[in-house]
Amino acid sequence: MEKINAVITGVGGYVPDYVLTNEEIARTVDTSDEWIMSRIGVKERRILVEEGLGTSYMARKAAKELMQKTKSNPDDIDLVIVATTTPDYHFPSVASILCDKLGLKNAFAFDMQAACSGFLYALETAASLIASGRHKKIIVVGADKMSSMVNYEDRATCPIFGDGAGAIMIEPTTEEYGVLDSHLRTDGKGLPFLHMKAGGSVCPPSYFSVDNKMHYIYQEGRTVFKYAVSYMCDSTAEIAKRNNLTKENIAYVVPHQANLRIISAIAHRLELPLENVMVNIEKYGNSSAATLPLCLWDYEKKLKKGDNLILTAFGAGFTWGAVYVKWGYTSNQ
Ligand code: UT7
Repeated sequence: MEKINAVITGVGGYVPDYVLTNEEIARTVDTSDEWIMSRIGVKERRILVEEGLGTSYMARKAAKELMQKTKSNPDDIDLVIVATTTPDYHFPSVASILCDKLGLKNAFAFDMQAACSGFLYALETAASLIASGRHKKIIVVGADKMSSMVNYEDRATCPIFGDGAGAIMIEPTTEEYGVLDSHLRTDGKGLPFLHMKAGGSVCPPSYFSVDNKMHYIYQEGRTVFKYAVSYMCDSTAEIAKRNNLTKENIAYVVPHQANLRIISAIAHRLELPLENVMVNIEKYGNSSAATLPLCLWDYEKKLKKGDNLILTAFGAGFTWGAVYVKWGYTSNQ
């Protein structure tokens, strides 16, 4: 039997209209555009401000654009995976809401929670299901409404994050394109450094948890920074080495957009100029599971069939890894 690869056949994306600038943040906490640009690299981020709208709203917009661009028939979609840490509800899943909103009748759907690495994990999962031969058309979404768990009185975290969603279509091919290799890891050692203290089963919501601001992102930035650099660099280097990818034949590294200094460290490790690294942190900040598909969305027109990409991410858990993708089409839109 011929080997089946899983190729990305389209990209959709959505970011909310509201632009939260560094100047606006500096009016509420003690910070400055200069500090945020030099330490993180974010100029502005998008925020879903409309009341009553959650992650599924952005995921739906991204997936709808994807369906239109790929001229997909809803009846042909057989699986939807949504990577998110900020679902609309504890249950049901964002993915199940999408099935209804997109009119999918022949799909099963679930959410995947791997923090900022969620999209990478979902991509690998979808690719394996395509390669199994049992699935033919899968939508993978990375979507997060980070503003729903950011404390806008905490200057150490509030400049970092933004909201957004990106979606890709994955289909089978017998050609040598698509998701060709992966190196994904989880160690569980990151819990003390990056988590939300309440709202889960250990500490359900209470007056105490709300009074003590336990429903926000807690991050020990310096420690997380060190692990992020080291793990993303190691995974990316491993994927590059075993697939003979070098600065001569890598079109783009697609890194999680957590901090421009982390992104630069990865480029340095691979001896790649920043032109070969997808960067949009300046305008969207860190939208967690959405950063990778939003990079693909922004750079889609520059990509050509056969381009070698290495996607890499790092997140709470800790979760991290890198995936080698050979791009499957040249955009004509
Ligand atoms: O996406 C999931 C994974 N997450 C990450 O990868 C994030 C990794 N961490 C980071 O990106 C960085 O650690 C941060 C951006 C979070 C922080 O940058 P840093 O250079 O590590 O700063 P720091 O936490 O070491 O703080 C340095 C100083 C401190 O002041 P002192 O104690 O030296 O006087 C902070 O209080 O900067 C201060 N500071 C700020 N100053 C102005 C912290 N936040 C701000 C701020 N404006 N917004």
